[in-house]
Amino acid sequence: MENISYGKIVLIGAGHVGSAILDSLLRMNLADEIVVINRNEKKALGVVLDASHTTAFAYSANANIRVGTYEDCKDAQIIINTAGPSIQPGNSRDRMVLLQTNVQVMKEIMTQITAYTRSAIIINVSNPMDILTYIAQTEFNYPRNLLIGTGTLLDTARFNKMLADLCGVDAKNVTGFVLGEHGGTSFIPWNAVNIVGIPFHDFQKQFGLKEPVDCEKLLHEVKVSGLDIVELKGYTSSGIALSVCRLVGAIMRNERAVVPASVVLEGEYGLEGIAMSLPCVISRNGVERTLQIPLDKEGEKNLKICYEYLRNVIESIS
Ligand code: LAC
Repeated sequence: MENISYGKIVLIGAGHVGSAILDSLLRMNLADEIVVINRNEKKALGVVLDASHTTAFAYSANANIRVGTYEDCKDAQIIINTAGPSIQPGNSRDRMVLLQTNVQVMKEIMTQITAYTRSAIIINVSNPMDILTYIAQTEFNYPRNLLIGTGTLLDTARFNKMLADLCGVDAKNVTGFVLGEHGGTSFIPWNAVNIVGIPFHDFQKQFGLKEPVDCEKLLHEVKVSGLDIVELKGYTSSGIALSVCRLVGAIMRNERAVVPASVVLEGEYGLEGIAMSLPCVISRNGVERTLQIPLDKEGEKNLKICYEYLRNVIESIS
């Protein structure tokens, strides 16, 4: 095991998402050292200095935040990748438009990282999420349990919040994952959605809803919400930053938290050859195991659509 400095995070990319992640990591006191790498070093320095001034108020006064280089990866516990362009307002509302550019960016980043470490847990944030996660793990033969994409963790947060608002409860009381692609072929195994064990088809009665939950409409709103926010504010940052912090917290605190995250499949549901989001047990060791929610006929159909779509994209770039 290469020597790890526990508590050390390398953050690649100092754009809107990277700086939101830096601020959130500090606010939640999740790291002892955060090294920011960015092509434009001046930008990185600006983000670092601005964030460092918050430690006068945040509970991370002793956090060492600085600009660094890929050499800092050699003893990093966690490496967070946010590099590469994101969807822009007015452009296509399909994250796959970033495919060509960001596959190249991901390969450059993995070449740099693997020159220094194969022991750090890499959290990929860049899109197209599942394709980049797959490329990073398979083309560089990086340990599968150490390469995690945020995947549908953000979609799940959005889903839980929307359903909670419908039912008038706290989003943290909703049990229900969005699975598959962080994109148009994501799906919700509704048979596994409940609030304290109350199945979703009982929600109308139990929560006094005027009409039953419209599953199609709710899933559509989840799928488009990120892109709607891009049209409104120009980018998304807050939701993805806290999604990253959920993973970082589970790793740093060795929680064994069960959260949806994008991983390369190794036979789950009889599938391999893509990365997609499944429930993962996340700990200091990265992905301890993946879990397979039993799917009904609808779920199996949606999984097949998702698999075939992602597999086609991967074959188109191979
Ligand atoms: C979103 C970006 C992170 O959905 O894909 O906000």
